[in-house]
Amino acid sequence: MKIRVLGAAAGGGFPQWNCNAPLSRAVRENRPGFLARTQSSIAASADGRNWAVFNASPDIRQQIAATPELQPSADAPLRSTPIKVVVLTNADVDHIAGLLSLREREPFTLYATRRVLDTLASNSIFQVLNPDYVERRELALEGITDLHGPDGSIGLTIETFSVPGKVALFLEDPDKKDFGTSGGDTIGLAIRQNAQAGQPHKTLFYVPGCAAIEDAFKRRISGGGCLMFDGTVFENDEMARTGVGSKTGARMGHLAMSGPEGSLAGLADVDLKRRVFIHINNTNPVLDPQSGEASAVRAAGWEIAHDGMELEL
Ligand code: MLT
Ligand code: MN
Repeated sequence: MKIRVLGAAAGGGFPQWNCNAPLSRAVRENRPGFLARTQSSIAASADGRNWAVFNASPDIRQQIAATPELQPSADAPLRSTPIKVVVLTNADVDHIAGLLSLREREPFTLYATRRVLDTLASNSIFQVLNPDYVERRELALEGITDLHGPDGSIGLTIETFSVPGKVALFLEDPDKKDFGTSGGDTIGLAIRQNAQAGQPHKTLFYVPGCAAIEDAFKRRISGGGCLMFDGTVFENDEMARTGVGSKTGARMGHLAMSGPEGSLAGLADVDLKRRVFIHINNTNPVLDPQSGEASAVRAAGWEIAHDGMELEL
């Protein structure tokens, strides 16, 4: 299975359009070691020809332009795409806005939980994805799904599982507990080739948003596979420290890397071949490869995803 990171940044990207904080300045000025990153998405393929895209970022047009594998091949019909499947892990803007760029009467299959499908259904702009061409299929909260594009199986299986998180920002209800968050608002995925069923070391766990680490999650991902995990913030109060906002990682549904409850400590004893932070916010100091935080993350065995990064499983 081939995996390609299309966008390694969190919502806003890196640099973010309106951000003048030091990290965004540094990448805008092309300072050595700083890599621009588009918004949160990966792609996977079992055969190198048929692809599934996981989360449709607002930058998907640019991401396809940077990824020849996702473009129509020279001998393909006049209108075609290798993207046969799109899977959503939540309804955040950085994960659904790219659907609007996938219009133009092109068949593919869209998979998401009932909560996320209902959000799309209640926003009429998503009707640009004509149901005659784009089939919407519901993902169970816990279950195994053989991904099917318009021409049948693409040879990939996903296992869905619920993770602690938060309802999308634009759906928050201030009067409700946890802002109205409920099951299916955020899921994690185990992605593998059909032929590799039951082989944890051939599995990619894709969890771009996660608010806490539970024991059941640790047991699920243990077994020598690869993990791509929520790397939004290094410190829970990093937005306030940077002076760009007051929201904590926890308030946004994202677990910080650092601290006794953080992902570095919480996942340290899990058996994984590779561990990669993805969905990295433009305030996260690990975006500066010379920073102490980046060194600490690397010393703990983690990689920091960048656009175009490839994994083979
Ligand atoms: C998040 O990951 O917290 C969201 O993408 C934030 C947002 O909707 O801007
Ligand atoms: Mn996000």
